[in-house]
Amino acid sequence: MNQDKAGRRVLSDLSVSLPKGGFSTLIGPSGAGKTSLLRLLNRLDDPASGTVCFMGRPIADAPVRALRREVGFVFQTPSMFPGTVAQNLLIVPTLGGQAAADPPSVGEALRQVELDTDFEHRIAAELSGGEKQRVALARALMTRPRILLLDEPTAALDPEVAEQLMLTLRRLREDSGLTIVMVTHRLSEARLASTYAVMLEAGRLVEAGPADRFFSTPATARTREFITAGRQGSEPA
Ligand SMILES: Nc1ncnc2c1ncn2[C@@H]1O[C@H](COP(=O)(O)OP(=O)(O)OP(=O)(O)O)[C@@H](O)[C@H]1O
Ligand SMILES: [Mg+2]
Repeated sequence: MNQDKAGRRVLSDLSVSLPKGGFSTLIGPSGAGKTSLLRLLNRLDDPASGTVCFMGRPIADAPVRALRREVGFVFQTPSMFPGTVAQNLLIVPTLGGQAAADPPSVGEALRQVELDTDFEHRIAAELSGGEKQRVALARALMTRPRILLLDEPTAALDPEVAEQLMLTLRRLREDSGLTIVMVTHRLSEARLASTYAVMLEAGRLVEAGPADRFFSTPATARTREFITAGRQGSEPA
Protein backbone atom coordinates (compact mmCIF):
# COMPACT_ATOMS: atom_id res chain seq x y z
CA MET A 1 0.00 0.00 0.00
CA ASN A 2 1.20 3.49 -0.75
CA GLN A 3 -0.20 6.82 0.39
CA ASP A 4 -0.01 10.37 -0.88
CA LYS A 5 0.84 13.21 1.48
CA ALA A 6 -2.82 13.67 2.44
CA GLY A 7 -2.92 10.03 3.52
CA ARG A 8 -5.08 8.85 0.62
CA ARG A 9 -4.24 5.41 -0.65
CA VAL A 10 -2.62 5.51 -4.07
CA LEU A 11 -2.03 1.74 -4.24
CA SER A 12 -3.80 -0.86 -2.15
CA ASP A 13 -4.13 -4.63 -1.84
CA LEU A 14 -1.53 -4.95 -4.52
CA SER A 15 0.37 -8.20 -4.76
CA VAL A 16 2.23 -9.07 -7.92
CA SER A 17 5.42 -10.94 -8.87
CA LEU A 18 7.28 -9.71 -11.93
CA PRO A 19 9.32 -12.44 -13.67
CA LYS A 20 13.11 -12.30 -13.49
CA GLY A 21 14.58 -11.83 -16.96
CA GLY A 22 11.16 -10.88 -18.31
CA PHE A 23 9.85 -7.77 -20.00
CA SER A 24 6.89 -6.67 -17.91
CA THR A 25 4.61 -3.87 -19.04
CA LEU A 26 2.35 -1.97 -16.66
CA ILE A 27 -0.79 -0.68 -18.32
CA GLY A 28 -3.98 0.99 -17.12
CA PRO A 29 -5.85 4.29 -17.28
CA SER A 30 -4.30 7.59 -16.26
CA GLY A 31 -4.09 7.83 -12.48
CA ALA A 32 -4.15 4.04 -12.05
CA GLY A 33 -0.94 4.06 -10.01
CA LYS A 34 1.53 2.82 -12.66
CA THR A 35 4.20 5.45 -11.96
CA SER A 36 3.62 5.07 -8.22
CA LEU A 37 4.27 1.33 -8.46
CA LEU A 38 7.41 1.85 -10.54
CA ARG A 39 8.74 4.37 -8.01
CA LEU A 40 8.41 1.80 -5.23
CA LEU A 41 10.69 -0.58 -7.10
CA ASN A 42 13.85 1.48 -6.70
CA ARG A 43 12.80 3.36 -3.58
CA LEU A 44 12.05 6.71 -5.14
CA ASP A 45 9.13 6.16 -2.74
CA ASP A 46 8.64 3.69 0.09
CA PRO A 47 5.31 1.96 0.76
CA ALA A 48 3.33 3.11 3.80
CA SER A 49 2.80 -0.59 4.46
CA GLY A 50 3.74 -3.77 2.68
CA THR A 51 7.04 -4.98 1.25
CA VAL A 52 8.81 -4.86 -2.08
CA CYS A 53 11.17 -7.79 -2.64
CA PHE A 54 13.96 -8.26 -5.14
CA MET A 55 14.97 -11.91 -5.63
CA GLY A 56 12.98 -12.76 -2.52
CA ARG A 57 14.69 -10.16 -0.27
CA PRO A 58 13.03 -6.94 0.95
CA ILE A 59 14.62 -4.05 -0.93
CA ALA A 60 14.43 -1.88 2.17
CA ASP A 61 17.21 -4.06 3.66
CA ALA A 62 19.77 -2.91 1.06
CA PRO A 63 21.48 0.50 1.05
CA VAL A 64 19.59 2.76 -1.39
CA ARG A 65 22.70 3.45 -3.51
CA ALA A 66 23.45 -0.22 -3.95
CA LEU A 67 19.82 -0.85 -4.85
CA ARG A 68 19.78 1.93 -7.45
CA ARG A 69 22.91 0.51 -9.05
CA GLU A 70 21.01 -2.74 -9.54
CA VAL A 71 17.74 -1.09 -10.51
CA GLY A 72 18.06 1.63 -13.14
CA PHE A 73 15.35 4.15 -14.03
CA VAL A 74 14.62 5.83 -17.37
CA PHE A 75 12.10 8.68 -17.34
CA GLN A 76 9.63 9.88 -19.93
CA THR A 77 11.69 12.90 -20.95
CA PRO A 78 15.44 12.34 -21.17
CA SER A 79 17.50 15.07 -19.52
CA MET A 80 20.97 15.58 -20.94
CA PHE A 81 23.86 17.12 -19.04
CA PRO A 82 26.00 19.71 -20.87
CA GLY A 83 28.78 18.26 -23.01
CA THR A 84 29.22 15.21 -25.17
CA VAL A 85 27.43 11.90 -25.13
CA ALA A 86 30.55 10.30 -23.64
CA GLN A 87 30.55 12.86 -20.83
CA ASN A 88 26.88 12.13 -20.24
CA LEU A 89 27.68 8.45 -19.77
CA LEU A 90 30.85 8.91 -17.74
CA ILE A 91 29.12 11.28 -15.33
CA VAL A 92 27.36 8.32 -13.68
CA PRO A 93 30.25 7.46 -11.30
CA THR A 94 30.35 11.05 -10.08
CA LEU A 95 26.63 11.10 -9.28
CA GLY A 96 26.56 9.67 -5.80
CA GLY A 97 29.10 6.93 -6.25
CA GLN A 98 26.73 4.56 -7.98
CA ALA A 99 29.25 3.19 -10.45
CA ALA A 100 29.54 -0.51 -11.09
CA ALA A 101 32.83 -2.12 -10.10
CA ASP A 102 33.34 -2.94 -13.76
CA PRO A 103 31.35 -0.37 -15.76
CA PRO A 104 30.89 -0.91 -19.48
CA SER A 105 32.92 1.29 -21.81
CA VAL A 106 31.14 4.15 -23.55
CA GLY A 107 31.38 2.20 -26.81
CA GLU A 108 29.86 -0.90 -25.27
CA ALA A 109 26.96 1.05 -23.75
CA LEU A 110 26.29 2.76 -27.10
CA ARG A 111 26.33 -0.58 -28.89
CA GLN A 112 23.84 -2.00 -26.40
CA VAL A 113 21.38 0.79 -27.21
CA GLU A 114 22.15 0.45 -30.94
CA LEU A 115 23.69 3.89 -31.39
CA ASP A 116 26.75 4.21 -33.62
CA THR A 117 29.93 4.63 -31.56
CA ASP A 118 30.55 7.96 -33.38
CA PHE A 119 27.83 9.36 -31.15
CA GLU A 120 30.23 9.55 -28.23
CA HIS A 121 31.63 12.84 -29.59
CA ARG A 122 28.25 14.45 -30.31
CA ILE A 123 26.89 17.23 -28.11
CA ALA A 124 24.10 15.54 -26.16
CA ALA A 125 21.78 18.56 -26.12
CA GLU A 126 21.79 18.66 -29.92
CA LEU A 127 20.50 15.12 -30.45
CA SER A 128 16.98 14.22 -31.57
CA GLY A 129 14.45 13.09 -28.99
CA GLY A 130 14.87 9.44 -29.95
CA GLU A 131 18.67 9.67 -29.79
CA LYS A 132 18.52 11.39 -26.39
CA GLN A 133 16.29 8.63 -25.08
CA ARG A 134 18.86 6.06 -26.25
CA VAL A 135 21.61 8.03 -24.48
CA ALA A 136 19.46 8.08 -21.33
CA LEU A 137 19.12 4.31 -21.69
CA ALA A 138 22.87 3.89 -22.20
CA ARG A 139 23.48 6.03 -19.11
CA ALA A 140 21.22 3.76 -17.08
CA LEU A 141 23.25 0.77 -18.31
CA MET A 142 26.54 2.25 -17.04
CA THR A 143 25.89 0.77 -13.59
CA ARG A 144 25.29 -2.69 -15.11
CA PRO A 145 21.80 -2.89 -13.58
CA ARG A 146 19.93 -6.16 -13.31
CA ILE A 147 16.57 -4.44 -13.58
CA LEU A 148 15.63 -1.50 -15.74
CA LEU A 149 12.51 0.55 -14.96
CA LEU A 150 11.09 2.74 -17.72
CA ASP A 151 8.19 5.16 -17.27
CA GLU A 152 6.59 5.84 -20.65
CA PRO A 153 9.98 6.11 -22.37
CA THR A 154 8.40 6.71 -25.78
CA ALA A 155 5.72 9.22 -24.79
CA ALA A 156 7.59 12.11 -26.42
CA LEU A 157 8.59 10.18 -29.55
CA ASP A 158 6.75 9.71 -32.82
CA PRO A 159 5.35 6.20 -33.39
CA GLU A 160 8.06 4.99 -35.77
CA VAL A 161 10.94 6.10 -33.53
CA ALA A 162 9.06 4.67 -30.56
CA GLU A 163 8.73 1.28 -32.22
CA GLN A 164 12.46 1.20 -33.03
CA LEU A 165 13.23 1.90 -29.38
CA MET A 166 10.92 -0.95 -28.32
CA LEU A 167 12.74 -3.34 -30.65
CA THR A 168 16.07 -2.23 -29.18
CA LEU A 169 14.77 -2.83 -25.66
CA ARG A 170 13.47 -6.24 -26.65
CA ARG A 171 16.85 -7.24 -28.11
CA LEU A 172 18.66 -5.81 -25.09
CA ARG A 173 16.61 -8.01 -22.78
CA GLU A 174 17.07 -11.07 -24.96
CA ASP A 175 20.83 -10.59 -25.29
CA SER A 176 21.70 -9.46 -21.76
CA GLY A 177 19.14 -11.16 -19.53
CA LEU A 178 18.18 -7.77 -18.10
CA THR A 179 14.79 -7.67 -16.38
CA ILE A 180 12.67 -4.83 -17.79
CA VAL A 181 9.61 -3.21 -16.22
CA MET A 182 8.00 -0.57 -18.40
CA VAL A 183 4.94 1.64 -18.05
CA THR A 184 3.30 2.47 -21.34
CA HIS A 185 0.11 4.01 -22.67
CA ARG A 186 0.69 2.45 -26.06
CA LEU A 187 -0.77 -1.02 -26.08
CA SER A 188 0.84 -1.77 -29.44
CA GLU A 189 4.24 -1.33 -27.74
CA ALA A 190 3.24 -3.46 -24.82
CA ARG A 191 2.23 -6.22 -27.21
CA LEU A 192 5.38 -5.87 -29.30
CA ALA A 193 7.90 -6.05 -26.50
CA SER A 194 6.50 -7.62 -23.37
CA THR A 195 6.59 -11.15 -22.05
CA TYR A 196 4.42 -10.32 -19.04
CA ALA A 197 1.69 -7.72 -18.54
CA VAL A 198 0.05 -6.10 -15.54
CA MET A 199 -3.10 -4.02 -15.60
CA LEU A 200 -3.81 -1.58 -12.79
CA GLU A 201 -6.84 0.56 -12.16
CA ALA A 202 -7.57 2.90 -9.26
CA GLY A 203 -4.50 1.64 -7.39
CA ARG A 204 -5.53 -2.01 -7.59
CA LEU A 205 -4.41 -4.97 -9.60
CA VAL A 206 -6.91 -5.88 -12.31
CA GLU A 207 -4.99 -8.69 -13.92
CA ALA A 208 -1.45 -9.95 -14.50
CA GLY A 209 -0.10 -12.74 -16.67
CA PRO A 210 2.09 -13.86 -19.57
CA ALA A 211 1.76 -11.28 -22.35
CA ASP A 212 0.57 -13.54 -25.17
CA ARG A 213 -2.30 -14.87 -23.05
CA PHE A 214 -2.98 -11.49 -21.46
CA PHE A 215 -3.45 -9.71 -24.79
CA SER A 216 -5.15 -12.50 -26.74
CA THR A 217 -7.53 -13.79 -24.09
CA PRO A 218 -7.68 -11.47 -21.08
CA ALA A 219 -9.13 -13.11 -17.99
CA THR A 220 -11.17 -10.10 -16.89
CA ALA A 221 -13.86 -8.12 -18.67
CA ARG A 222 -12.17 -4.89 -17.62
CA THR A 223 -8.85 -5.78 -19.30
CA ARG A 224 -10.70 -6.95 -22.41
CA GLU A 225 -12.55 -3.63 -22.57
CA PHE A 226 -9.36 -1.61 -22.05
CA ILE A 227 -7.47 -3.53 -24.74
CA THR A 228 -10.35 -3.32 -27.21
CA ALA A 229 -10.64 0.44 -26.70
CA GLY A 230 -6.88 0.74 -27.40
CA ARG A 231 -7.17 -1.32 -30.57
CA GLN A 232 -9.98 0.88 -31.86
CA GLY A 233 -7.67 3.86 -31.83
CA SER A 234 -8.62 5.62 -28.64
CA GLU A 235 -5.13 4.81 -27.36
CA PRO A 236 -3.30 8.09 -26.78
CA ALA A 237 -0.47 8.75 -29.23
N1 LIG B 1 3.27 12.70 -4.86
C1 LIG B 1 1.93 12.57 -4.92
N2 LIG B 1 1.13 13.27 -4.08
C2 LIG B 1 -0.21 13.14 -4.12
N3 LIG B 1 -0.86 12.31 -4.99
C3 LIG B 1 -0.12 11.61 -5.84
C4 LIG B 1 1.31 11.69 -5.87
N4 LIG B 1 1.76 10.88 -6.84
C5 LIG B 1 0.66 10.33 -7.39
N5 LIG B 1 -0.45 10.75 -6.80
C6 LIG B 1 -1.84 10.33 -7.10
O1 LIG B 1 -1.82 8.92 -7.15
C7 LIG B 1 -2.62 8.43 -8.20
C8 LIG B 1 -1.80 7.53 -9.12
O2 LIG B 1 -0.81 8.34 -9.77
P1 LIG B 1 0.26 7.76 -10.77
O3 LIG B 1 1.13 8.90 -11.16
O4 LIG B 1 0.91 6.58 -10.16
O5 LIG B 1 -0.67 7.30 -11.98
P2 LIG B 1 -0.29 6.74 -13.41
O6 LIG B 1 -0.99 5.42 -13.56
O7 LIG B 1 1.18 6.73 -13.59
O8 LIG B 1 -0.99 7.79 -14.38
P3 LIG B 1 -0.51 8.39 -15.79
O9 LIG B 1 -0.86 7.32 -16.79
O10 LIG B 1 -1.35 9.62 -15.95
O11 LIG B 1 0.95 8.68 -15.71
C9 LIG B 1 -3.22 9.65 -8.87
O12 LIG B 1 -4.51 9.85 -8.33
C10 LIG B 1 -2.28 10.76 -8.46
O13 LIG B 1 -2.96 11.99 -8.44
MG1 LIG C 1 2.47 7.80 -14.82
